[in-house]
Amino acid sequence: MPRAVLQVTVLGAGIIGLTCADELRRRGHRVRVLDPHPGAGASYAAAGMLAPDAESWHGERELFELGRESVAYWSALAERLGIGLHRRGTLLVGHDAADLQAATRQADLLAHLGVPPRRLGRDALRALEPGLGRVAGGYLLTDDLSVDPRAAVAALRSRLADVLEPVAGDLGDATRAEADAVVVATGAELPVPFTHLVRRVRGETVRVRCEDPPAHVVRGEVRGQPVYLVPRDDGEVVIGATSEEHDAAAVATLGGVARLLDAARPLWPGLDRASWLQVVARDRPGTHDNRPLVGPTHLPGVLLAAGHHRHGVLLAPLTARVIADHLEGGALIDAWDPRRFDERNPC
Ligand code: GLY
Repeated sequence: MPRAVLQVTVLGAGIIGLTCADELRRRGHRVRVLDPHPGAGASYAAAGMLAPDAESWHGERELFELGRESVAYWSALAERLGIGLHRRGTLLVGHDAADLQAATRQADLLAHLGVPPRRLGRDALRALEPGLGRVAGGYLLTDDLSVDPRAAVAALRSRLADVLEPVAGDLGDATRAEADAVVVATGAELPVPFTHLVRRVRGETVRVRCEDPPAHVVRGEVRGQPVYLVPRDDGEVVIGATSEEHDAAAVATLGGVARLLDAARPLWPGLDRASWLQVVARDRPGTHDNRPLVGPTHLPGVLLAAGHHRHGVLLAPLTARVIADHLEGGALIDAWDPRRFDERNPC
């Protein structure tokens, strides 16, 4: 039997909304994407690490496994979009002995999850990255990749240009759009009645252009301050990211940028010669159990594709599949079902 063609309105043209719309259209459905400022949300700040290993955490085995599944989907998505993936892996390092202990704890967690990373001494690290500053040691994580989210968003916007509507104002009323389904993918700014389901976690990233950028993603702690450096092919390096629970506007702060640079410069001394490009602050959409909100809500026909916290870019292709699969046949990832926060169990 031929599949029914659905009319779906997607609210939000960030990496999540656009990937959902693209997947639905690829499957033959009709979509509209509404956003007053397409591509200007968290995807604009994101460094684009596809890093289920480096960002795995205790008690989050399922998220780790789903993250690895989503990395696998990124290959096909990047090919469709005509963009590259950075595949040289991640060096997880510690600046001093205490910082190395933090990296070792992450390596132990990964060993427990079945993917032990390779330990590297200073000389082996320097052989891989001659520009690395003083480090006590580290690990090579070969399976974590990265992508340029701005390139991905630009390619998705161009594929969806005929259905992308930069509507004015807030998208709250659009949850009642005439459609078979409405998918709300507005990041940290969910409309009523979903606003309370996300908490805002500010992240600041700094972009510079560097003559001698690292070949790998480099991340780790420097005197207890976490930092990562994500190189692009053209010499741009994204330095990130602060992480701050807050209720204020998502603006870049002097203190946040200073902490990032104080950590990044000892790891990669060549940054001192880098030229300044941009500092950006956006809110990550955290949830009350740190799991995404992907699937139906208590409002008939309204779905959420939200709450991805640190993993929006990583989980975009998996989220798009879950949304499309659900609309076509009802399948879901139970742990991501937004209805876990219903009236009886609000948050
Ligand atoms: N996934 C990187 C970050 O949230 O900073």
